[in-house]
Parts: sequence; C-alpha cells; structure tokens
Amino acid sequence: MIMQRVKPLSRILAEGSDESHGLKRSLGPWALTAMGIGAIIGTGIFVLTGVASATRAGPALTLSFVVAGIVSALAALCYAEVSSKIPISGSAYTYTYATLGEVLAWIVGWALVLEYALGAATVSVGWSGYFTFILHTLHIWDVPQTWQHSHWDATPGIANLPAAAIIFLITALLVRGTKESGTVNAVIVGIKVAVVLFFIAVGIGHINPANYHLPAGPQAGEGGYFPFGWAGVFAGAAFIFFAYIGFDAVSTTAEEAKNPSRDLPFGIIASLVICTVLYIVVVAILNGLVPFYTLNVNFPVAYAVDSVGLAWAGVIISFGAIAGLTTVLLVMMYGQTRIFYAMSRDGLIPPVFVRLHSSWRTPWISQIIFGVLIAAAGALFPISILGSLTNMGTLSAFILVAFAVPMLRNRHPELKGAFTIPFGPYIIPVLTMITALGLIYFLRYGNPVVWGFFPLVWLGFVIWFVVGLIFYFAYGRNKSTVALEHTEGLAVRQPPVN
Ligand code: ALA
Repeated sequence: MIMQRVKPLSRILAEGSDESHGLKRSLGPWALTAMGIGAIIGTGIFVLTGVASATRAGPALTLSFVVAGIVSALAALCYAEVSSKIPISGSAYTYTYATLGEVLAWIVGWALVLEYALGAATVSVGWSGYFTFILHTLHIWDVPQTWQHSHWDATPGIANLPAAAIIFLITALLVRGTKESGTVNAVIVGIKVAVVLFFIAVGIGHINPANYHLPAGPQAGEGGYFPFGWAGVFAGAAFIFFAYIGFDAVSTTAEEAKNPSRDLPFGIIASLVICTVLYIVVVAILNGLVPFYTLNVNFPVAYAVDSVGLAWAGVIISFGAIAGLTTVLLVMMYGQTRIFYAMSRDGLIPPVFVRLHSSWRTPWISQIIFGVLIAAAGALFPISILGSLTNMGTLSAFILVAFAVPMLRNRHPELKGAFTIPFGPYIIPVLTMITALGLIYFLRYGNPVVWGFFPLVWLGFVIWFVVGLIFYFAYGRNKSTVALEHTEGLAVRQPPVN
C-alpha cells in the first residue's frame, strides 16, 4: 500500500514539456555548474565551519569535509542518473512520485521543506553574522546583542532581527519576480569564488603550524590534530554537510536546461567537485590561522584573517560572503515555493500554494507565507539547531532518491538517460543510503538532548514527520489529482491567477 499511486511518467514528462510557463531553455552545462556553485557555497563554509571546528572536530575538520564530500558525491551520482532520466523540475519529490508512489513522494516533499525553508533560515543567521560584523568593523553601528541573537544562542538575546530583515527583503524580491538572468548569477558566483580564492591567497602565508597540534587543555580538548577523536570528525561531517547542500538544486532547473539529460548530470557533478576542492583548502587554512577553539563565532572566516592582522581582508571577505549568502537565500526560497507549487498542482496541499499573482505571475501568497515562517525561524532559533534539522531533511531526501535509482531501472527499463551510475544499480545507491544514515546518526553529537538521552534534532524531525503524515492522510490522500484521475477522470489542476 505504501508504494501505491505512482504518478504516471508519461504525465510527468508531459507537464515538463509544457512550455506555456514561458521557461526558456537557455542554460548550458557551465551555466548549470555556475548555478550549482551559486547554491552550494554559503553559510556552510563561511559560518558553520567555525562552530564545527570549535566544538566538534578541531583542526581535523578538514577530514570532516572529505567525509561529507564523499556522502554528497554518492548522492550526486544518484541525482545525476535520476535527473537525466526524468529531466523535470520538482527534483526529488517528482522522482519519488514517479517511482515510489505518493506516500513516499509526500514524505520527500515534506522533508524538502526542512532543506529549503529551514536551510534559508540557517543561511539568514549566517548572513546576519557577517552583516553585523561589517557594521561593527566599519564603525557604522553596533547592533545590540539582544537583537542579533536568539534566546538559545551562546550569547542569549531576544531575536536575530537582521536575519529576519534579509528574509523579508528576499521575499519582496521574489514576490515581485526577479528573474535572475544567467549573467547576474554568473557575476555573483564569480564574486563568491573570487572571495574564496582571495582568502586562500591571503591566508596561506599566515598559517601557524602549531595551531594544528595544540596542547591539551580545557578549551583544546585532548589537543593535537584530533582534539575530539574520530567521533568528532564524523560529528563535524554531519554538521558541515550543510555546506554541500545545493548541488541538488541544479535538478530543479531541468525545464530551463538546453539539453537536460546530458547537462544536468554534468552541472551537478562539476559544481560539487569544484566546491569540494575549494572547501578542503579553505578549512585547512582556516584552522592553521588561529587556534580552532577561538572560531566559535558567526563570521569565522573574516574573524580568522582579522586575528592575524588583516582586518581589511576581513571586510572584503565579509562583503563577498554577504553577496554569496544572498544568492543562496534566493535559490532556497525560490526552490521552496517551486516544490510546494508542484505538490499543490498534484492536489497534495491546498491550492493557495499554486495561486499566481495576476501581473507578476509569481506564487506570491506562498512566497509570503514562507517568508514569514522562515523569518521567524531565523530570528528565534540558533544556527546549530536550524542547520542540523536542515541536514536531517536533506539526508532523508537523499536516501529516497538513492532508493529511486534501482526502482526506476526496474520499472522503466526503456528510459535511457545520458548518465548511468557505475557499478550497477545497487552498489552506489546502497552506499548512499548507508553513509547518509551514518551522518544522521552522528548529528546527535554536539546537539542538545531531551529526556537526558534523545537528540533534540531527531525529535524535531520525528515531530515534523508525524505532522506531515497526519496532514497527508487528512488532506492530500483525498485530494490527490493522481487518485482523482483514476476514479473520476478529472483534469489536472491549473494554477488559478488572482
Ligand atoms: N550549501 C549552502 C550553504 O552552505 C546551503 O549555505
């Protein structure tokens, strides 16, 4: 029963080839790669590395990035194969609907809210860190601590107002419908990569090798390269996995790619490889600049260069980080409404999420609803909880996409995508599932627990999951257009415009 109601592939492909939305097929392989990099490089590297180094892995965080990079690469291969066979936007939700049926598709769509909406909230907190750092360093304004921290931060405050403010600003842009042109995107991605290279160039000459093996102490744990042992390396990997999220966003552009079945796999894999290499170098340098335990701040990359006497470089990096984080926010908040649009079109959530503005033709109500929710999350919760829950949601979606690979080969042997994962249909998907589950397990480290033993992040996920299932059985199960088509022959819901 759980795998009933598979959405017919012929219908999915027909919806995707309907060009009435005016989506132009203009993106080539390198534009897609740029898009991937635009979505990937963000809070993970610019912000979370600090907390992860200080509290989880120490200098061995470089290895954590290797571990999380491997898990992401395995998942990327699965995404590459499925997206080359079903080159339709909607990403993991659509793939699951076509292969594993409605219930699991619902679960993926619901989990993707954690990836996109909570991911955006996480990025907004990172944005706020760099923004307040710039205001402070340039002596413009010291935002009161009370208004730049949530109640549960290490320095408790009331609410992180800059985080909420940037979300409202992006919401306004998206409601109005900014059609990011490929050129604008490429320019901002160029700035972001340039800032990363700039950090590497200025940082490499200031490495103090002693920082890689500090003596044991109250702050430095057991000292050495592995102050928190291998468990710390894996806990670090589970946490900074966030840095890799985004390559999957390439698959949401399927309907704008020139040659999707060939270029999507390329964009997904190339963007991930480039970012992995940059990340590993950046983290190795970061931990060489200052003692790892001093990095527990919201703007660690700027802080580290500042600490070695390069305050000016810190300001340049902060401007670049802000530009880069803004594009991640745009992609995530856009992606969120896109996925709910697909789910609403399928009848699984109320029609308000498919409603378009009469002149701007954007899903404006959906955008505003999510804008308010994301702003509240960014303002009121600490970054480590937000980031960890985002990782849980994304890893669960990865597991189901991995599951979809062999299912798709069995059910639709006639589909020939341009990309096939090596070693047959099982080895890489199974490794993806096992390693993703491993990261979920290690998310428990460094996160608060409830009832003395249960990680808060797992509890949050379970609650989200249960609420989702209740909603599905109370609403979507009865309203699903796939089910209604079978029974009543109803037409596909068209987006109303008001
Ligand atoms: N990978 C993206 C970031 O780090 C989500 O901001």
